[in-house]
Amino acid sequence: MTITTGAPLPTSAPAESTAPRTTQRGATPRRFLMCRPEHFEVTYAINPWMDPSKPVDTALAVAQWELLRSTYEVLGHQVDLIDPVEGLPDMVYAANGGVVYAGKAMAARFTYAERQPEGAAYQAWFERAGFRPTIQAASTNEGEGDFLVVGRIILAGTGFRTSVDAHHEVREFFGAPVISLELVDPRYYHLDTALAALDDHTIAYYPPAFSPASNAILRQLFPDAIIATDADAEVLGLNAVSDGHNVVLTDKAVHLHERLRERGFNPVGVDLSELLKGGGSVKCCTLEVRS
Ligand code: ARG
Repeated sequence: MTITTGAPLPTSAPAESTAPRTTQRGATPRRFLMCRPEHFEVTYAINPWMDPSKPVDTALAVAQWELLRSTYEVLGHQVDLIDPVEGLPDMVYAANGGVVYAGKAMAARFTYAERQPEGAAYQAWFERAGFRPTIQAASTNEGEGDFLVVGRIILAGTGFRTSVDAHHEVREFFGAPVISLELVDPRYYHLDTALAALDDHTIAYYPPAFSPASNAILRQLFPDAIIATDADAEVLGLNAVSDGHNVVLTDKAVHLHERLRERGFNPVGVDLSELLKGGGSVKCCTLEVRS
């Protein structure tokens, strides 16, 4: 079996495009926290993507994950690792570990018992890495799965996992404006499955995943957003990580790759088919650590 990233890696200049809104885009170096899927398997189902009766190839998951990690490094980003814990198969989805913003860290408080011990593991990592203060969320809060930083605001998802109380808690702790958005489709149970932050003022999202009121808010705040198709969303194409120019996402979201290119971004495709069996893709595996 061959695995390729299919990744056109950093270009010195943004791709030529004839699309109207293309702008000169700049990548900034990022710091990411990841967790190698050594213990990854699907033994329980807490989202509609998970089917414990389907086999998972853990070695392939590790190989695909390694390519994601090296893709970040080739793009010039720093990748830190947290030790995987046996018996916590979903720990690979590091985005859920917490929110680290302006040098402060809030570790997650998970919805389901199966993932609850992950909160303490991520909290310990944040403490060791020197984030002060580091706390554990008081309300149900699945970290960057439901909190996405876009410029100076934080978009926050609710409906399936993270509670609205957690949105208030994040606003108070980080002192940043938080916009609550309601998710309505169980396949898109975390905000990062239905919306991607591309740069400080650009997002891509899938409107059917949000309530009518949340759609109205998104249209007001981001009239220029890239709108994902059903096909983009169904391969978790929006579960993407952007450095402001390079957007790492599944190679299966072909339409989204096109839209990104038209808007001056550089889509970098990776294959994370094994990790999709747990209901996650690129962003789920990546927690951005913001000092
Ligand atoms: N199996 C995990 C869960 O249901 C997947 C988490 C995906 N992570 C994310 N950031 N969307 O909790």
